[in-house]
Amino acid sequence: MARSRSAWRRWYDAWEAQQDRFIPNRERRFRTMLDLVEAQLPARFVAIDLGCGPGALSARLLRRFPRAGCVAVDQDPVVLKVGEGALGSVGGRLSWVDASLGSPGWTDALPVRKFDVALSTTALHWLSPTRLRRLYQDLGRLLRRGGLFLDGDRIAWAPEEPELARLAEKVRQVRFPGAQRSGEWAGWEAWWRRAEKDPELGPLFPIREARGTAHPKHTEPSLAFHVRALRRGGFRRAEVVWRDLENVILWARR
Ligand SMILES: C[S@@+](CC[C@H](N)C(=O)[O-])C[C@H]1O[C@@H](n2cnc3c(N)ncnc32)[C@H](O)[C@@H]1O
Repeated sequence: MARSRSAWRRWYDAWEAQQDRFIPNRERRFRTMLDLVEAQLPARFVAIDLGCGPGALSARLLRRFPRAGCVAVDQDPVVLKVGEGALGSVGGRLSWVDASLGSPGWTDALPVRKFDVALSTTALHWLSPTRLRRLYQDLGRLLRRGGLFLDGDRIAWAPEEPELARLAEKVRQVRFPGAQRSGEWAGWEAWWRRAEKDPELGPLFPIREARGTAHPKHTEPSLAFHVRALRRGGFRRAEVVWRDLENVILWARR
């Protein structure tokens, strides 16, 4: 018998809880991103959620904008299964796509060829500089002229700003004192350990292992890199419009 939506919803809620624990002001960041969408787009629009996980951003967007549609993209079959199980297609307004952002030909899997806004939360820092550069080139083609890009993510200070990096780390210790720091990661790792034991999610683990979807090993691209790559991708402006230390919303207009 197929698992019920409310059973999948428990996995979704557990994902939300572990993300909320280690991203300060996560909800405020979502809200600000959606405020920016509301201020700049008409009521009916099509969005793409890049590195959607189980759909935290897509769900909030579709709840707030009842005439919008959204395509949610991720390369991890486990989070896609949870998201589809918990949220479904939201009355035909949400499509789930299994694709690896920035890989050659990833856009072929998309059911729609033009978008008004591309959004992402806590995902693009996973991409290597090469992937990110390619992704921004592709978004330059996928977004309509005047379309928006909004990325809520941790973008590390540039290496020439060691003082700011040290300051941000000290604030982190104030916010998540002592043992809680490992507790943040414990929440993430515990979610994955539990998922691996689940009879419906466990069989998907060899696929995610084969795709190498674990956390990145490369150096995370700097803000200057993002801005340069967006401009090369055809974006006219790219600016940080919201910041809480290294946690930013990067905004760009096509
Ligand atoms: C920390 S999760 C964030 C998920 C969701 N956006 C949220 O805010 O809850 C990062 C997600 O990015 C996805 N991801 C990382 N690199 C990716 C890539 N190259 N293509 C597609 N998805 C990717 C991961 O599989 C993971 O689901």
